[in-house]
Amino acid sequence: MRIDYDSLRTANAIPCAASMIETFRAIGYNIETAVADIIDNSISANAKNVWVTRHWHGDKSFITIKDDGCGMNSQEIIDAMRPGSHSPLEERSKTDLGRFGLGLKTASFSQCRKLTVLSKKSGYHSAYWTWDLDYVAQTNEWTLLQWIPEYLDESVDDIEHGTLVIWSDLDKVVRKGTSENDINAKEKFSNSLDRVRQHIAMTFHRFLEEKSLKIFWCGHEINPWNPFCISESKTQSRPTEGIVGGIKLKGYVLPHKSAFSSEKAYNVAEGINGWPAQQGFYVYRGKRLLLAGDWLGLFRKEEHYKLVRIQVDIPNTLDSEWQIDIKKIKGVSSYTMPEST
Ligand SMILES: Nc1ncnc2c1ncn2[C@@H]1O[C@H](COP(=O)(O)OP(=O)(O)OP(=O)(O)O)[C@@H](O)[C@H]1O
Ligand SMILES: [Mg+2]
Repeated sequence: MRIDYDSLRTANAIPCAASMIETFRAIGYNIETAVADIIDNSISANAKNVWVTRHWHGDKSFITIKDDGCGMNSQEIIDAMRPGSHSPLEERSKTDLGRFGLGLKTASFSQCRKLTVLSKKSGYHSAYWTWDLDYVAQTNEWTLLQWIPEYLDESVDDIEHGTLVIWSDLDKVVRKGTSENDINAKEKFSNSLDRVRQHIAMTFHRFLEEKSLKIFWCGHEINPWNPFCISESKTQSRPTEGIVGGIKLKGYVLPHKSAFSSEKAYNVAEGINGWPAQQGFYVYRGKRLLLAGDWLGLFRKEEHYKLVRIQVDIPNTLDSEWQIDIKKIKGVSSYTMPEST
C-alpha cells in the first residue's frame, strides 16, 4: 500500500539534543569494546599504526587513540561527529569495519563527556572539533565546540596525515574529585586499561599477525593473541568447512595443559576471561573478531569443552542476518547457525 505523503499534515519531532546525547551513553559498551570501536575507524581509514595512550591525572585523566590513516579536514571532522553520519543501509567496502555512522560518538560517550577529534589530511591544515556533553546539556543544541584540552601533550604534527581521538572528562572511568595522588584510583584506572590492551591484542590479532597494522600501547607494540594457539605443535585443527552465504568454520582443539610447550604458553592461551569462559565460537567479520568464546545458544559452557575453540568467518555483507548491533557484538549471540552445505 502506498501512502500519498503530500496529502497529509506533518509535524516536526526533532530529537531533544540534551537528552538524546545522554541516551547515547547507555548503549552498553565497556571500555574495551569502546576503544576497539575507535580502532575500527583507524583501520577503515587505512592506518598502518595506531597509538593508544592513557594519561593519569586524577579526574583530569584522558585517553588518546591516534592513527596515521587518511585523516580528515575540518568539514569531514564535522561530518564524522554527526550522529548517523552514514546510513546502515549503505553498501560498504569489504575492508570498512563501520556500519551505522555512530560508533565514534556512542563508543566515546560511553566513557567520557568530552570527545575531541584532531585530524590532518594531506593538503589541508590540521583541524579539531569537540563534542562537550555539558555544553550540549546547557544549550540543548547539536553544536560542536572548537576546543581542545589545554593539557594535551600530543599532536598530529609528527605525521603526514592521521587522526587523534581524545577522550577527556572520563566520568565513567575516574570519579569526579579524584586526586592525581590517589594511589587506589590510579591502580584501578591502570587495571581497567590493562584489560583494554588484552582485548586489543585479541580483537585485532589477525591484523597484527599479518603485520598490516601495528598497535602501540603507551609506546610499546602490542603482540597478537591468537585464540587457536596455532604455534603449539599439539593443537589439533579441523579442515575449514563452508556453510551458506560465504560463512566459513574451522575447529580447533587446544592441547591439554601437560602437552603445551611451556606453562607460560598455557597461561597466555587462557585469555582474558579464563579457560572455561574462552571456549566456543570466535566470530570474525572480515579480519576483526566480534565475539570471543560463545556457543551462540547451541551448547552450555562445560569444563570438558574448555579446549574447544571454533573460528567462524562471516563477510560484512551478512550484517543484517547476523543482527550486528552498534557495538558489533551483542546481537550475534541470538543467532541460529545455518545448516552445513
Ligand atoms: N580515525 C578516523 N580516520 C578517518 N576518518 C574517520 C576516523 N574515525 C571516523 N572517521 C570518519 O567518521 C565517520 C563516522 O565514524 P563512526 O565510527 O561514527 O561511524 P562508522 O565507522 O561509519 O560506522 P559504525 O557506527 O559502525 O562505527 C566514518 O565513517 C569515517 O568517515
Ligand atoms: Mg566506526
